[in-house]
Amino acid sequence: MKMKKLLILILFIIFFVEFSFQENNFKLCENGGISVLSDKCICPPSYSGDKCEKIDKNEKCTNATYFSNSIGPICCFSKYRDEINLSELKLTINNNKNNNNNSINLNKSYENKIINELLKTYGPWDKKDVKLLDFLLISNLEKGEINLKYSNYFKKREQQLENFLNNDNCNDLDNPNPLAFLLIIKDIDYDAINTLFQFLYSPNNYYLIHIDGNTKIDDEELEIFFKKIIETKKENLSNYSKKKWNDYPSNIKIMKNRFEGEWGSISLVYLEIASYTVLFDMVEERINKTGLSFEDSQWSHIINLSGNDMPTIPLSNFSKILCNNKRKSYLDHCCIKDYFRFDRNWVQLNDKSGLIELLPKNMKEQGCGDGLGMSKYYDRNKSYGDGSQWKFLNVEFVKYLISDLKSLERLISFKFSFIPDESFFQASKIFFNSKGGHSFEFDTKRVTMFDNNPEARDNTRYAVELKDIPNLHGLYFVRKVYLKEIRDAIIKEFNLLSEY
Ligand SMILES: *[C@@H]1O[C@H](CO)[C@@H](O)[C@H](O)[C@H]1NC(C)=O
Ligand SMILES: *[C@@H]1O[C@H](CO)[C@@H](O)[C@H](O)[C@H]1NC(C)=O
Ligand SMILES: *[C@@H]1O[C@H](CO)[C@@H](O)[C@H](O)[C@H]1NC(C)=O
Ligand SMILES: *[C@@H]1O[C@H](CO)[C@@H](O)[C@H](O)[C@H]1NC(C)=O
Ligand SMILES: *[C@@H]1O[C@H](CO)[C@@H](O)[C@H](O)[C@H]1NC(C)=O
Ligand SMILES: *[C@@H]1O[C@H](CO)[C@@H](O)[C@H](O)[C@H]1NC(C)=O
Ligand SMILES: *[C@@H]1O[C@H](CO)[C@@H](O)[C@H](O)[C@H]1NC(C)=O
Ligand SMILES: *[C@@H]1O[C@H](CO)[C@@H](O)[C@H](O)[C@H]1NC(C)=O
Ligand SMILES: *[C@@H]1O[C@H](CO)[C@@H](O)[C@H](O)[C@H]1NC(C)=O
Ligand SMILES: *[C@@H]1O[C@H](CO)[C@@H](O)[C@H](O)[C@H]1NC(C)=O
Repeated sequence: MKMKKLLILILFIIFFVEFSFQENNFKLCENGGISVLSDKCICPPSYSGDKCEKIDKNEKCTNATYFSNSIGPICCFSKYRDEINLSELKLTINNNKNNNNNSINLNKSYENKIINELLKTYGPWDKKDVKLLDFLLISNLEKGEINLKYSNYFKKREQQLENFLNNDNCNDLDNPNPLAFLLIIKDIDYDAINTLFQFLYSPNNYYLIHIDGNTKIDDEELEIFFKKIIETKKENLSNYSKKKWNDYPSNIKIMKNRFEGEWGSISLVYLEIASYTVLFDMVEERINKTGLSFEDSQWSHIINLSGNDMPTIPLSNFSKILCNNKRKSYLDHCCIKDYFRFDRNWVQLNDKSGLIELLPKNMKEQGCGDGLGMSKYYDRNKSYGDGSQWKFLNVEFVKYLISDLKSLERLISFKFSFIPDESFFQASKIFFNSKGGHSFEFDTKRVTMFDNNPEARDNTRYAVELKDIPNLHGLYFVRKVYLKEIRDAIIKEFNLLSEY
């Protein structure tokens, strides 16, 4: 009996692994190489062989170590980037010159060629890179080529998107403008999430929950939990909404293929970018299931939240504000932060390790080029600046982020920087052009209570207290609300349960 169970388990694992294999266009090779469409591996310089298993020991860079860990692939790639004088967005900056900066119309074979160039340049590659690329890219098996998945998606929808953005009817309470909420959490605090959904849930919005890849989750339990939220919210809907809503596919989804978010690393940006693609898929799913038009289904903004954020304005008011500002993204953007975030290589030695910094001096000694990290191909003297992770991004900017080659190069060029979630979005906006007159607003009207217990190292650090609540009027969100008593007081103060 035990044997049989084991056998079934083994069979299941084999089947499962094979299944997920077929779905993926990318595979890791040895030593940080990567293969596309099961073709031969793209290896780090000085590595070769079918699986990148052959190491050219005559090349000093393959010998490089960090304490006792080999960092040969990192070192050789770093040397290579110096040798080709990699400059900012070198591989993609000129692609769209004659094309209105619109990569949607790029020659697809050319696009495939550039993607392969990117893979040759910005390695080594690891598990999270492969996961990200599988969200962003799609294979054309006939041609044996890889393309940007969402460039294809939007190509058919350019006019519809314009129609959507031009529609300024924001007063129809039965058909409010959909928003997309991205809830990024590490630990599942059911109580906090339940409260949050009491006033952030609406049947026409979209909700995606990304739970950290290191957190064990019980899918069934989560599903029941969210079903219950939907059921109770349904009770109080108008008959009109109820009827309409019954046709919709579930608008709360738990992200599959979750990322392990390592603080300070690119993984936090990856998980967000990957989540954006799912939020577009949810729109398409709704269109497919209900027959509604794109214009009636598309969300205008993505709002990313963590489990302990609280709104300080009723959802209906907030929706209306964003509806009236469909062509605006809200992105904190201020100052130039520390240079050391960019002038060395920040890497994870494996999936489970934290971020370590490889210092230029050490890299140089080991034959890795200057070891100056992305500072060599990121011109900070252009007025980029950094900001915080807080943002409400509009659909056009999000579309750009997931469907443009420049944006893809920008993203992977940040791989070895520190805290890229405070820079990537700000650095990407420079190259984003919208023909309809998109604008950026710096003020995201959110606060963190930096004066509350700054020395504490637990939940009381920066936590919202009762005394703070009257000062929160005019804002949209406040961070770090941990206690039920505070949540209840905020709900009351800001009429969060009212439906205007
Ligand atoms: C690599 O390290 C080995 C062992 O320490 C050494 O014998 C060899 O000379 C080194 N190779 C190069 C190219 O530096
Ligand atoms: C990189 O720049 C150096 C110094 O300017 C030059 O000698 C070298 O030829 C350049 N390499 C490439 C591949 O352009
Ligand atoms: C393309 O974008 C660049 C950088 O934003 C801008 O300077 C240039 O004018 C744009 N070209 C066209 C044809 O829109
Ligand atoms: C598309 O790009 C490929 C590869 O760069 C090139 O060989 C081909 O001529 C291009 N086709 C067109 C129609 O421009
Ligand atoms: C539904 O409305 C009733 C009456 O206004 C209220 O007591 C109840 O809390 C509401 N339920 C939800 C889930 O909002
Ligand atoms: C909603 O539907 C229920 C039963 O279908 C009915 O009793 C009720 O009067 C309707 N409410 C409104 C506001 O139309
Ligand atoms: C929606 O329908 C189209 C056409 O049948 C299909 O290609 C696509 O995969 C569907 N998308 C989703 C998210 O269900
Ligand atoms: C939004 O996502 C970023 C990851 O880029 C994360 O660091 C940040 O904390 C998130 N914002 C909120 C409000 O949770
Ligand atoms: C929300 O909108 C309603 C109706 O327009 C208005 O009465 C109320 O003051 C608004 N509340 C906030 C916090 O903006
Ligand atoms: C960029 O600015 C820094 C600091 O002001 C300066 O040291 C550096 O020389 C500048 N680099 C370039 C390429 O202008």
